[in-house]
Amino acid sequence: MTVATRRPPGPKGTWFGGNLSEFRRARLDFFTRCAREYGDFVSLRFGPHRIILVNDPAAIDYVLVGGARSFRKHFALRLNPLLLGNGLLTSEGDFWLRQRRLAQPAFRASRMPAYAESFVGFTQRMLQRWQPGQSVDVLTEMERLTLDIAAKTLFDADVESEARAVGEALRVAQDAFVARFGSALPLPLSWPTPRNLALRRAVHRLDDIVYGIIHQRRRGGEDKGDLLSMLLAAQEEDGERMTDRQLRDECMTLFLAGHETTALTLSWAWYGLSRNAEAEAELAAEVQSVLGGRIPTLADLPRLKFTEMTVLEALRLYPPAYTFGREAIEDCEVGGYPVPKGMTILMSQWVMHRDPRFFAEPLEFRPNRWADGLLHKLPKLVYFPFGAGPRLCIGEKFAMAEAILVLATIAQKYRFTVVPEHPVVPAATFTLRPRNGVKAVLTER
Ligand code: HEM
Repeated sequence: MTVATRRPPGPKGTWFGGNLSEFRRARLDFFTRCAREYGDFVSLRFGPHRIILVNDPAAIDYVLVGGARSFRKHFALRLNPLLLGNGLLTSEGDFWLRQRRLAQPAFRASRMPAYAESFVGFTQRMLQRWQPGQSVDVLTEMERLTLDIAAKTLFDADVESEARAVGEALRVAQDAFVARFGSALPLPLSWPTPRNLALRRAVHRLDDIVYGIIHQRRRGGEDKGDLLSMLLAAQEEDGERMTDRQLRDECMTLFLAGHETTALTLSWAWYGLSRNAEAEAELAAEVQSVLGGRIPTLADLPRLKFTEMTVLEALRLYPPAYTFGREAIEDCEVGGYPVPKGMTILMSQWVMHRDPRFFAEPLEFRPNRWADGLLHKLPKLVYFPFGAGPRLCIGEKFAMAEAILVLATIAQKYRFTVVPEHPVVPAATFTLRPRNGVKAVLTER
């Protein structure tokens, strides 16, 4: 075989769907099995899409960082233009770069203290609602909280009354996306299938809310100092303001990317702690010694070390973004294998973060593994919950601060006793979600 046609090994698929049916049956297990059986580079085919699953950190580093110019986001992200449009997550090239630069100031360190007040303030509001002994679904509670926080910090909007509608609409839209990703030949979105109709209704509902916020702000003309104000004030080179449609796409993207992932991180952290009593006790002890009962602020972050390690561990074992990809826009090579233009490279945090080559007892939830600077000792791109390179998550620091402060605020007052009759099972939807939530009883400290 010549080098030019060399392909990594991989599981045999069917002639039509390739490996799609196996993938659909058990998405997470499928990737793990591929990595363990075939190694660092695995050939796959999803319908017409030729894919290499890459499990080698140096090659992942090349795709996301060193060779990033040879790639764009992969086909799956373009499967649902109705929801995200051309926002930061999906846009490309000069347009993406300009939008990224416009949005960046909203995530500057100088803005964090005000955000931190919202993180803690909304958490306290939630705690006032809770009663000791109450049964809750941890995921529902965390989603409601992070949605309120995202609306306030990004758009200075109060969506509390609409939180349920927003949550449901996002779920429908994401389910539609997942179904399309698992289909060899997705039907056009314009066809009136039940799923497409439900998707349209959900997107309309979200549009009403987001356009409502934009129009209200345009009318008010006030600079609230939040992300939306910055985007609204941004002038394009020819002096034109961003259109409502562009604003809508950016707002929708940030709304979606900025709240669910953090809610999941928190839910998985609570779940992990419920399985590790020692870690739970250490968290409580840290919160008591650092805060002594007072409300946390941004200045406490450096001393909330164990709380941070708990978040890092939740992001390791249950990464909300569990697999993502890139598509080659020119012929190139990855790990010595030729990658022709159009080919997709998949990289899986789920696989890498559980790889026994890099993590001892990888399936255990052990925040302490991060104690001696493991984060900096690991080879690059073994642990990448927020991605890497130019498309690194714009909200990384925001999300880390939010997760740590929310965790610390709640841990001062409550712990969760997870109800054993409701097993918690990771499900690979658009993000990594506990399939039936995390049912728990609130236990007062
Ligand atoms: C624990 C929480 C979060 C996780 C695990 C996470 C994960 C990620 C990952 C893996 C990417 C890279 C995707 C790729 O390269 O294809 C990404 C991008 C992005 N994230 Fe996050 N994210 C989180 C929180 C947030 C927050 C709080 C915001 C906003 C407030 C946000 C906004 C974005 C945006 C806009 C992008 C696209 C950036 C670009 O391409 O320029 N994320 N996120």
